[in-house]
Amino acid sequence: MTQPLSGKSALVTGGTRGIGRAIAERLAADGARVTVTGTRPGGDAPGGGAYLACDFLDVRATAAFAEDVARLDPDILVNNAGINRIAPFAEIDPADFAAIQQVNVTAPMMLCRAVVPGMRARGGGRIVNIASIWGVISKAQRASYSASKFAVDGMTKALAAEVAADGILANCVAPGFIDTEMTRTVLGEAGMAELAAQVPMKRVGKPAEIAALVAWLTGPENTYISGQTIVIDGGFTNV
Ligand code: NAI
Repeated sequence: MTQPLSGKSALVTGGTRGIGRAIAERLAADGARVTVTGTRPGGDAPGGGAYLACDFLDVRATAAFAEDVARLDPDILVNNAGINRIAPFAEIDPADFAAIQQVNVTAPMMLCRAVVPGMRARGGGRIVNIASIWGVISKAQRASYSASKFAVDGMTKALAAEVAADGILANCVAPGFIDTEMTRTVLGEAGMAELAAQVPMKRVGKPAEIAALVAWLTGPENTYISGQTIVIDGGFTNV
């Protein structure tokens, strides 16, 4: 059987671990040629794809990287790389706040901007930006992160409106609590167990579950969903 993404190329940012790695593996398994990014030189991509290093905290490096991405000209872009630094509101370090916006919002904006001309020229493309439930609802100490994820949501809606007539579908996927290094670092083991108990499904999510949704949104079956933020959280945001 033909694989759903056979003949397609995909770029997944932050594909070295966690959700991004699972997305890259799934898109490769579905037949795409996948390029992943990380912050350090010398990483690898699933299925023998290419690996590119860029630290999105570095504004100039990100601008140069966006030019490389325009040349790479992928059919599918998944902006997954992201950072989170929690702090009580009164203690937010403006430098941390700016860093979070740089990695979580500005870099995705620059990469979306870089891929649109090529997608337009081909008459279509798929963009998924990984947002968060904290870009739909929020919580104490998440102001910097929530600001960035609400921004990604708004940016994606505007982008989707602008490029829909060109056959480009742009959406956000908003994961709940997913078992990755980021979650374990922010919450610790005890925090993870506490959280799982609050989720209606009584467990945290797996990176592969996010990857399956991204694969569907970027695949041939998605012909009419654009400008949406799809929450995938075991029911958490409704309780
Ligand atoms: P992670 O910390 O396990 O992996 C993050 C990825 O981003 C890595 O590949 C890393 O190389 C890359 N990255 C980090 N800093 C970077 C920088 N300065 N420049 C370029 N790349 C950088 O994170 P995780 O948990 O897999 O999260 C992936 C995405 O999913 C993020 O956008 C995160 O905000 C979002 N998310 C995660 C949730 C979770 O529960 N883990 C829940 C909701 C959203």
